Amino acid sequence: MGAGTKVICFANNKGGSGKSTTCSNVGYGLTQLGRKVLLIDGDMQLNLSLSLFDEDTVLGFAQGSRNLYEGIRRQDDLTDYIVHTPYEGLDLIPSSTLMSSIEYELFTKWQREYILKKGIANIRESGIYDYVLIDAPPTLGGWVMNILCASDEIVIPVEASPWGLFGLGNMFEFLDEVKQIAPELKLGGIVITKVDTRKNYFRQTLETLKELDDVKVFDTYIRVDSGIEWSQDNNAPVMAYKKSSRSAKEYMALAEEIDAAR
Ligand SMILES: Nc1ncnc2c1ncn2[C@@H]1O[C@H](COP(=O)(O)OP(=O)(O)OP(=O)(O)O)[C@@H](O)[C@H]1O
Ligand SMILES: [Mg+2]
Repeated sequence: MGAGTKVICFANNKGGSGKSTTCSNVGYGLTQLGRKVLLIDGDMQLNLSLSLFDEDTVLGFAQGSRNLYEGIRRQDDLTDYIVHTPYEGLDLIPSSTLMSSIEYELFTKWQREYILKKGIANIRESGIYDYVLIDAPPTLGGWVMNILCASDEIVIPVEASPWGLFGLGNMFEFLDEVKQIAPELKLGGIVITKVDTRKNYFRQTLETLKELDDVKVFDTYIRVDSGIEWSQDNNAPVMAYKKSSRSAKEYMALAEEIDAAR
């Protein structure tokens, strides 16, 4: 295992592709491998935060001063914004609905692409965490640029559906742009999500993706499973909610695959 903290973001401008679900479950899975993990909720929808805490607690974070929006707005060291989750080895920087105006906040700032990178610099340097996982919103703009500039790797969850692939071209174009200011950023891989093996879209999606040069597709794919929705309804990672479920096993396998690439 390499030393230091690895920062991975989960991004795709296509909405509902499984970014938040993958971020929280891979995060929890990594803790089951003995890793220490910090999750950062970069989306105003608060989904990552809701995957670990109940609604009242999440809204409490969002309305308080200890959330990502406040940290970015004040350009603080984000160490002070970390909260412990009910799960061992798993911490979170919660989000706020005010993240909706983050683009506006960034606009006036000096070196505005690097605010998040600077905000987590001390966290990285401390070496407390093996992984920092960032959940990105379904947009492509200055804020997602910040998320990508702060990351070592991007993992792109792609939904196995006819429209799942549509728009991936935009994502790659955006990544090319980002690479000009973040040349170190690597594409960790594409993970295919919400697979219904009874449908042909999955094979088609897989074939299309395999044709792309230099793009790794993870061996593990995630099938549609009601266990995901039940676990989210209970504000818990699926492995903590129902370890025997299919998606719990799949997300554990994905966490192992990601950890093995370390
Ligand atoms: N494997 C799965 N089986 C069943 N439902 C799933 C699965 N993965 C995700 N979902 C559901 O699909 C929806 C979208 O997932 P998720 O919120 O993780 O996507 P997202 O890319 O983060 O969305 P957004 O772009 O809005 O941030 C959610 O309602 C989630 O419960
Ligand atoms: Mg999301």
